[in-house]
Amino acid sequence: MTIPSASNPGDSNDDIDLIASRLTLPNGVVVPNRLVKAAMAEGIGLGGGPPRAGHFELYRRWANGGWGMILSGNVQIDPRHLASPHDLTITPSAFDLKAYTKLASIVHKVDPDTLLLMQISHPGLQSSSMINLSRWPWEPAIAPCEARPDISGGGDGGGGFMSWIWGHAMWPTKSRKIHKVEEWLDIVERFVGAAVVAEKAGWDGAQVHSAHGYLLAEYLSPLTNHDPAPLPGVPEIVPIRLHLLYLILRGIRDNTNSSFVKAVKINCSDFVQGGLDENQATEIVHTVISWQMVDIIEISGGTYAQPAFASPESLKKTPSARQSLFAHFTTSLLPSIPSPPEGPAIILTGGLHDRTLIASSIRDRACDLTGIGRPACMIPDLPDRIILNPTIQAKDAELGGYSIPGREFMKTVLGGANPASNSGTKDRSTSKGGIPLVGAGVSTLWHEWQMCRIGRGLNADYGMHWLRGFLVEEVWWEVLYGLPVGWWNKGRR
Ligand SMILES: Cc1cc2nc3c(=O)[nH]c(=O)nc-3n(C[C@H](O)[C@H](O)[C@H](O)COP(=O)(O)O)c2cc1C
Repeated sequence: MTIPSASNPGDSNDDIDLIASRLTLPNGVVVPNRLVKAAMAEGIGLGGGPPRAGHFELYRRWANGGWGMILSGNVQIDPRHLASPHDLTITPSAFDLKAYTKLASIVHKVDPDTLLLMQISHPGLQSSSMINLSRWPWEPAIAPCEARPDISGGGDGGGGFMSWIWGHAMWPTKSRKIHKVEEWLDIVERFVGAAVVAEKAGWDGAQVHSAHGYLLAEYLSPLTNHDPAPLPGVPEIVPIRLHLLYLILRGIRDNTNSSFVKAVKINCSDFVQGGLDENQATEIVHTVISWQMVDIIEISGGTYAQPAFASPESLKKTPSARQSLFAHFTTSLLPSIPSPPEGPAIILTGGLHDRTLIASSIRDRACDLTGIGRPACMIPDLPDRIILNPTIQAKDAELGGYSIPGREFMKTVLGGANPASNSGTKDRSTSKGGIPLVGAGVSTLWHEWQMCRIGRGLNADYGMHWLRGFLVEEVWWEVLYGLPVGWWNKGRR
């Protein structure tokens, strides 16, 4: 098994040609190059609802950047259940349709070839009523089990008292276990309905979020779904744990055109004891492929307990840190699945932060498409400006290599730790019993604030101290200015 690494540089022009090459998906749709702007909740606006001015400008900048595909951040299918107070939501209302249509037309007008996919999500038990204010504080999240997210770092006791405090402050009640089949079917309908609205609005496809400990991932995981109940209308051959995902993917297939790209995001591992492991994830991926209902599968990993997908190490510049987060899984998975267009394209996201590594990941078939997250918040036109730019040499075509001013301080003050590395082990040198979710949150918020700046027509600010970002972007632009303006606009709908 070869794990692609930046220490094995190929010829830079060959690398560019490979990354710039087109890829045909199973449904015949062509992705113009191998670069995918990864799904990132934009952090713009409060209280749910469809995209607004900041999103339009941000997506215009990405569309102008030469991405083969742009994946939206979370678009929640139930406005009561948000992962963050800034999340977008989608309903079949005319107002939502109009806003999502506007966003798609902005992207397609700037670059008709770039594909725009909507990530449709439900955070399940990870939705905090206290942070999102989208339902009463005592109204529980919903899940296949009755539980509170374990944010102690995977059940090993890390985080201790601090994680107990954070956990109970964010989730004052345990989640409510869904017992009724009708409620599961309602969730299926909402996912399918969201994809239908996306297609009507002119989006090129939808990605069903079934990773990161969200509701669909909770249904797949033995840790959160101890006694999966069979759902009606599913062929007997489908394992019960996959019933929910099957119904959603079948519903989307049956209610959208074949040209509408269907994608799913799945964890290679939850990185917590008792959660989904790599063997189970491999089986799930093979089963999903056998249904022939998806054109793209994205591989990620981790949950709120251990947000492996947010490893800050991968932003570092040292060659040893430059590695893709989940390539060890995909390099052993891909030889057993047909290449696109016979099989779905595999997106690998996390830590793919230099041209050589991106090219070797495609060449060694660790993936067909490469997802890039955090660096896309800093340089929205990364593909054209750096990765595919032949005047930039391979050694300079690095996308990470920056640090967040004030991050270590805030991590310590808030009791955070670094999330798991790609091997799934906690970084003991820095964690010291802190909470990985808080450590990941410090970095995620800072990157959201950069997207907010771009949404206001500015550039990212590498020098933005975390506290300044909090005060300017969160307190002023989102709460003090943004909330009254948001309410005023809502009142005029
Ligand atoms: C600000 C921010 C928001 C994110 N929001 C989402 C999201 O809405 N959905 C999702 O699946 N992943 C989300 N992620 C994870 C990214 O898609 C990606 O997996 C992660 O950043 C690792 O890729 P990178 O190393 O290139 O940044 C988010 C990450 C960041 C930094």
